[in-house]
Amino acid sequence: MSSSAAAPLNDGRVQDRIENYSQFWKKDLQKEEDKDNKNRLDQYTDVVNGYYDGATGLYEYAWSQSFHFSRFYKGEAFLASLARHEHYLASQMCLRPGLRVLDVGCGVGGPAREIAQFSDAEIVGLNNNDYQIHRARKYTQKMGLQNQVTFVKGDFMKLSEQFGENSFDAVYAIEATVHAPSFEGVYGEIFKVLKPGGVFGVYEWVMTDDWDPSIPTHKELAHRIELGSGIPEMRPMSAARDALTSVGFTIEHQEDLADRPDAIPWYYPLEGDIRKAQTFWDYFTVWRMGKSGQFVSHNAMWLMEKVGLLPKGTYDVGESLKVAGEALVAGGQTKLFTPMYLVVSRKPKA
Ligand SMILES: C[S@@+](CC[C@H](N)C(=O)[O-])C[C@H]1O[C@@H](n2cnc3c(N)ncnc32)[C@H](O)[C@@H]1O
Repeated sequence: MSSSAAAPLNDGRVQDRIENYSQFWKKDLQKEEDKDNKNRLDQYTDVVNGYYDGATGLYEYAWSQSFHFSRFYKGEAFLASLARHEHYLASQMCLRPGLRVLDVGCGVGGPAREIAQFSDAEIVGLNNNDYQIHRARKYTQKMGLQNQVTFVKGDFMKLSEQFGENSFDAVYAIEATVHAPSFEGVYGEIFKVLKPGGVFGVYEWVMTDDWDPSIPTHKELAHRIELGSGIPEMRPMSAARDALTSVGFTIEHQEDLADRPDAIPWYYPLEGDIRKAQTFWDYFTVWRMGKSGQFVSHNAMWLMEKVGLLPKGTYDVGESLKVAGEALVAGGQTKLFTPMYLVVSRKPKA
């Protein structure tokens, strides 16, 4: 996949890479010899950007401006649970007024705005996707938070080049660094831009310690998550732990929050079972995720793409989101996958 012939749309999306996303995976599935995922690791920027150019509108429509999962209390509304998940990370990291904080892979800025309001810290959101930055700035301006929350374009594999070393008091990443071609690479860059004594908090997508890639069904599950979510390579939890310590971090706290004995599992909205909706408004969210909701939105997308209201390839990216939804639920039910491996680590004082 090459972006050289890419046709930019006027909102930051790039036509060719959305179309190429599904083509890329079709080819990838046929390439038995690419056992080490070399193509995907080499081309992570275009693969991930193609995915988000196509998926962002759907994420916002079906989920919210926060593109992550969360735990649920009984009776807790969907949006309240997303916010609580963000507050939890901020409180574990002790974010507070006066700190300059980097949000790595910030999406359209839902968590950055929420964490800024919760902690009073200054947040810089970093994202490699123009379309999402464009939307993040618009929403932030609308909320009047533009002096506290700003957004910059950049690749999280090159943070030190962009910001210089020792430039942030704290860094967090919510369900984003899984898109990196290697955990060592992205965590190493985060380590460099943190000031000595600074804290890094992450909710990481990983396969749990029960996952065994030598078992074909386990390997296939990881592959379906990769394909459906624009991920170059799903890795085990131990890889995240090892990478953090190998780049120099001291791990202060780690926990798979999906392992808490919650009555309502994190993946319940994806199951599309409206009987599980926790509040009246959540019926709509859960319906949108279910079969009838998907039928409506996917047909609408097909039509909008045909009449030119959506860029070509968006429908196919939507199809891959269906694959993701099913795979993520299966991963959650079998506890082979978690989207909320929480690790709080610190850069030692010099
Ligand atoms: C699942 S979304 C999570 C977004 C956000 N953290 C949230 O919770 O709403 C993953 C984000 O990582 C960003 N991303 C992926 N690869 C990146 C890279 N190499 N550099 C910067 N951002 C990247 C994507 O553009 C997307 O915004």
